[in-house]
Amino acid sequence: GKVILAYSGGLDTSCILLWLIEQGYEVVAFMADVGQEEDFEAAKTKAMKCGAAGFFLEDLKREFVEQLIYPAVQCNAIYENVYLLGTSLARPVIARGMMEVALREGCDFVSHGCTGKGNDQVRFELAFYGLSPSIKVIAPWRLPEFYERFAGRSALLDYAAKNGIPVTQTAAKPWSTDENLFHISYEAGILEDPNTTPPDDMWKLTTSPLKAPEQPETLTIEWSRGLPTKVTKQDGTTVTDAVEVFLTLNALARKHGVGRIDIVENRFIGVKSRGCYESPAATILRVAHMDLEGMTLDRNVRALRDQFITTAFSQILYNGFFFSPEREFVTAAIPQSQKTVNGFTRLKLYKGNVIVEGRDSDEGLYDAKFSSMDEQGGFEPTATSGFIDISSIRIKAWAVANGKRGQS
Ligand code: ARG
Ligand code: SIN
Repeated sequence: GKVILAYSGGLDTSCILLWLIEQGYEVVAFMADVGQEEDFEAAKTKAMKCGAAGFFLEDLKREFVEQLIYPAVQCNAIYENVYLLGTSLARPVIARGMMEVALREGCDFVSHGCTGKGNDQVRFELAFYGLSPSIKVIAPWRLPEFYERFAGRSALLDYAAKNGIPVTQTAAKPWSTDENLFHISYEAGILEDPNTTPPDDMWKLTTSPLKAPEQPETLTIEWSRGLPTKVTKQDGTTVTDAVEVFLTLNALARKHGVGRIDIVENRFIGVKSRGCYESPAATILRVAHMDLEGMTLDRNVRALRDQFITTAFSQILYNGFFFSPEREFVTAAIPQSQKTVNGFTRLKLYKGNVIVEGRDSDEGLYDAKFSSMDEQGGFEPTATSGFIDISSIRIKAWAVANGKRGQS
């Protein structure tokens, strides 16, 4: 049979490639460019050296931004109130690119290097089945003949060496990472003790807030229907292209130490896991978008969206059900909620903080006349007395009943 392998260029997937060939499969290697820092040429050379029958690299950055990151920004997606879902959001795009090549190359099998304990195995495999229901999955880290043979890193190192595969000389970092243009994750290794402070040199995408510039930096983000359409930097230069907007915000956030996260989260399979993340641009966009919604989004639309759409979208993505009827259903509601989210937010970045300095919109939901403390207008103050009278009926009855029971 022919297998398409999600290849990373690292030790694990190089050994998986060798091992699949040893089992008699023909293997093609697949890599997605989702904005990670990577030497794709070196990875290709290594895959071919391992004996891959082909190497396929797909640039999926634009699809990642427009199809996954955008809806996440529009609904303020977040998992367990902290994690901005950077890995979860990339998986559907990678799986889609991979299944396209699988179909083109006539692969009946798909393989990956995810462990048997994480979220990614679930996300990838559900996505594969959602796209190609008859594809067959080979998950080596869940096969005893693989994980028993390769228990421990030295077994993998030996196997690679025996097959003439160069293993990078630099000592492996004592944690594992997953990077794309939205974020980088750090898990495992020394981070498994949740009380270990991440070492300063772990953080890769952002400057330490302690070492960030003493001078703050301002920027303006313009929004159309809840999407960032233009970024104006302090020096007046502007960017409008979706990918460029994202990269520009990443660079600004990196410089000012914005977007570090440290959390103990609940994985879908039910185990807890400590993860550190850097989500630079995503953090700026979240603050700015939520701010503009304050001015432009109807109160009840906002409450319903927060309660149902945001939570559902975040959980569906985290758990790996992107290719599902419920995800289609939930994302259909997102643009509807964003029709009025037009305008701009002015921000200042300073030592890890995103500070909102002002915003404006022509949408007209905000009218100073209604809320002003200095002006009569919009409605009669006497009408509010009735509003409070009626609202207090229930509260007074409750207070009276408390008194009867002798409670205060
Ligand atoms: N805990 C995060 C998540 O589930 C990050 C996973 C990182 N994945 C990886 N293969 N290193 O989304
Ligand atoms: C893995 O287990 O392969 C990485 C972490 C995760 O998927 O949650």
